[in-house]
Amino acid sequence: MKKSRWGILGTAGIARKQLIPSLQSSDMCEVVAVASRDIEKAKQFAQDTHIAHYYGSYEALLEDPSIDIIYIPLPNHLHVEYIKKAVSYGKHVLCEKPIALSVADVEELIALRNSSGLMIGEAYAMYYQPRLQEIKKLLTSGSIGEPLVGHGVFFLTNNDKDNIRNAYTVGGGALWDIGVYPIAVGRWLFGAEPVEVSCEIENDKDFNVDHFTSGLLKFPSGGRLSFSCGMKHPSHTHMSFSTQTHRIEIEKTYHSDYPHSQFFEIFTGDYPSKGKKVSFDPVDQYRLECEAFHNSIFNNEPFAGSLENSLSQTKTIVALFKAASSKKVERV
Ligand SMILES: NC(=O)c1ccc[n+]([C@@H]2O[C@H](COP(=O)([O-])OP(=O)(O)OC[C@H]3O[C@@H](n4cnc5c(N)ncnc54)[C@H](OP(=O)(O)O)[C@@H]3O)[C@@H](O)[C@H]2O)c1
Repeated sequence: MKKSRWGILGTAGIARKQLIPSLQSSDMCEVVAVASRDIEKAKQFAQDTHIAHYYGSYEALLEDPSIDIIYIPLPNHLHVEYIKKAVSYGKHVLCEKPIALSVADVEELIALRNSSGLMIGEAYAMYYQPRLQEIKKLLTSGSIGEPLVGHGVFFLTNNDKDNIRNAYTVGGGALWDIGVYPIAVGRWLFGAEPVEVSCEIENDKDFNVDHFTSGLLKFPSGGRLSFSCGMKHPSHTHMSFSTQTHRIEIEKTYHSDYPHSQFFEIFTGDYPSKGKKVSFDPVDQYRLECEAFHNSIFNNEPFAGSLENSLSQTKTIVALFKAASSKKVERV
């Protein structure tokens, strides 16, 4: 099988820590080049990560005819601009979350994908966790009832003034960076789109970005998902879902590489509740995501981070910001 050839825009932390090692461990994909705005930085990064080619501008990499797929881990405000450029060079694109900061931008990307015939996907690797896929099956089979209530948190500590998450001008803030995860998983596991949202935001005085945000999403069934995210808090991720008869608890929900946390717990709803632990082998969700993206291009298979999913996700986030500002319940 011919491996897909990937090029990376920027010397991002997520590329170094996750995507590059994952791509390099795959039998289906290979990383052939990296680009930086600074050629010396590109050279050093390529050396450190064992990538054969490097470029001193993003455009130079896009011009490389040997590359099939561009991975974009740039700051959020540059995602749409560089997806459009990459597509204009005939490349498929896997872009980091959040793929866009407005609904109109996602609609434009859908039109671009449809007219170009190229794949554009949003990187949400947790959709490829066997653990979450098993929970999805349980919740859609009807065997434990339908989700009534979900709750999700994503907290971390980030006081770095130079970090892109602390800069409003590049699309920073807790909701766009980490709040997106419980919302994406919640929408997926509810199997529906929210109709109404409310939200409360606390902005950081120094950085002018939201640093503590909580919201409530209401689904057509009447089911509700609440979430909180923050960047001034002890690091913690967790989700729980309750149906008419059961409760599911998911530790370190968005990661699949902690050997001690690849399980979920399922409890009956009665009292005293009976519980059991369902365990999974750790997997590299980033490798599975990249291989699924490869398969969506070359084998016409569905990709979980589709632009249709991005459109619903972005509508929800934009409605949450609107609700925080109006202090009212807003329609999605
Ligand atoms: N899926 C996940 O698990 C996950 C995890 C973390 C982050 N992310 C996403 O990945 C993206 C990158 O996050 P990160 O933390 O890895 O970022 P980062 O380490 O700060 O890297 C961003 C890169 O973008 C380039 N860049 C271009 N214009 C820039 C500007 N004006 N300011 C700063 N950097 C600029 C820089 O590369 P050059 O200087 O070399 O050009 C920089 O190395 C974000 O969209 C984030 O939401 C996803």
